[in-house]
Amino acid sequence: MPSLIDIAVNLALSGAVLVLSTFLWNYLRSPLKSYPGPFATNFTNFWRFLDVHKGRCDITHNALHRKHGIAVRMGPNVLSLSDPNLISKVFTTKNPWKKSTMYGVNDVMVSGKRVSNLFGTTDEKWHSTVIRPVKSLYSMTKVQDVEHCVDAVINLYLEKLQERFVSPGKACDMADYMLYFAWDTMSQVTFSETLGILEAGNDDRKFLETSYRSLDYFAPVCQIPELDLLLDKNPIYRLGPPSFGWATLFSIEALKKRIARGPTLDGKNDFLDKFLEAKKKHPELVDDGMVVTYLLSNVLAGSDTTAISLCSAIYYILKHPKVHRKLREEIHRAQLPIPASWKDIQDLPYLNAVMREAMRIHPGVGLMLERIVPEGGLTLPDGRFVPAGTIVGMNPWVINRNEEVFGPNTDKFIPERWLKYDHETEEQFSARVSRMKGCDLTFGAGSRVCIGRYLSQFESYKLIATMFTKFDIELADPKDDWKIINSWFVRQLNIPVVLKNRV
Ligand code: HEM
Repeated sequence: MPSLIDIAVNLALSGAVLVLSTFLWNYLRSPLKSYPGPFATNFTNFWRFLDVHKGRCDITHNALHRKHGIAVRMGPNVLSLSDPNLISKVFTTKNPWKKSTMYGVNDVMVSGKRVSNLFGTTDEKWHSTVIRPVKSLYSMTKVQDVEHCVDAVINLYLEKLQERFVSPGKACDMADYMLYFAWDTMSQVTFSETLGILEAGNDDRKFLETSYRSLDYFAPVCQIPELDLLLDKNPIYRLGPPSFGWATLFSIEALKKRIARGPTLDGKNDFLDKFLEAKKKHPELVDDGMVVTYLLSNVLAGSDTTAISLCSAIYYILKHPKVHRKLREEIHRAQLPIPASWKDIQDLPYLNAVMREAMRIHPGVGLMLERIVPEGGLTLPDGRFVPAGTIVGMNPWVINRNEEVFGPNTDKFIPERWLKYDHETEEQFSARVSRMKGCDLTFGAGSRVCIGRYLSQFESYKLIATMFTKFDIELADPKDDWKIINSWFVRQLNIPVVLKNRV
């Protein structure tokens, strides 16, 4: 009869043999052996899992591309690409390449069934059916319909800053307050109701913490999506991320109330009214469940991301005194109302340049956007071949730093790169800027490009213009740096500022 020690040793040995055989199998069948990359990526995706888990894989990805060129092996079947000329191929709108299984980690289990969403679905047919009835609601023209909602939250924001920080002369951490603003705004434009975060001045109800804990799970686990089958999508016990049950309940309650009350009649519509109109127009495509899907994608995909752009803008402006001065001059000259109205700010050239640069240098998403190479494979610009079935990805943090497209010093915050240089003709300038816009991967690209990009720009340009109209703002300690954590969304911590009233 074997002893317990014998059994344990045998189990450990069998485990080790299984792991080694998997590594060997991965290596032997890997079509990417000739591509450069960290040695361990020949055998396993654990290398990238650990790298993402450490929280700054954007730095690693940039360093690897600087060392190895446009194609770097990140796993036995995964390649990171950095040539912006490949964007139109990988993210083509004609026969879109399928999203990889990393996105499935975002699915949730409801009564034992996997439920996908607009962002995470890998089914292009389902995606185009779901998005069709609502896509046009997010154009720059249409998002202006909810300006009254954004203004209401900007007013609340200014009131709370005044009460808690300006009057008592205390520093305010923008890393928190931009988040409070973005979550409450997205809720207001969606349901005409905030989440009450600005009012409370804290995250006691744990909306923001739930979101971070969920991203801290998603980011590493989506590097080995099979892990998610064990941890979250198993039928026995969930060890996965916290659920967004509160957001689903909030959405269902708001929907029920709106159906009972009827649409908003004073012309002050919100997205919920618009989704219910879409349901009326397309009853074959949109039911109440689909309306909840739309509501959730607004709140969950559009809040943290917008806060990240706002933090990037305020931090870089305040860290660069010349930019700060130039922006203030432009904004003060414009004599904006409070809140600043879109019609007054949409053509302010320096504000536009600053906001674009803030998003270029610190895009909200910091992992590779992954797609599967379709039949026929992919030929790289240098002639190398990538076979069908390979996962290829592009990281906005790598692409947005490409110096051929964005000019020199892409690690530096230089809004002037979005403006006309003295030595340029109008044609040269417009060709250069349209190439930069075409290659900026902040909002993704192609058929799965971010649906909320104009909404996000709309509210963040308005807030920044209003803040520099209303306040004189400085960093509490100009030498102090923020902290960055990349877990899919690249969030910031620690941006204390001092605000004084201007007007
Ligand atoms: C600065 C703010 C934002 C950033 C940086 C951002 C970034 C992105 C990126 C990179 C993607 C593409 C992901 C991929 O290809 O894997 C995406 C998709 C998406 N975003 Fe955003 N986003 C922002 C704001 C918003 C807002 C405000 C909303 C909602 C109103 C939103 C809703 C979505 C949805 C629904 C998708 C999936 C689109 C699809 O697959 O068709 N995002 N976003």
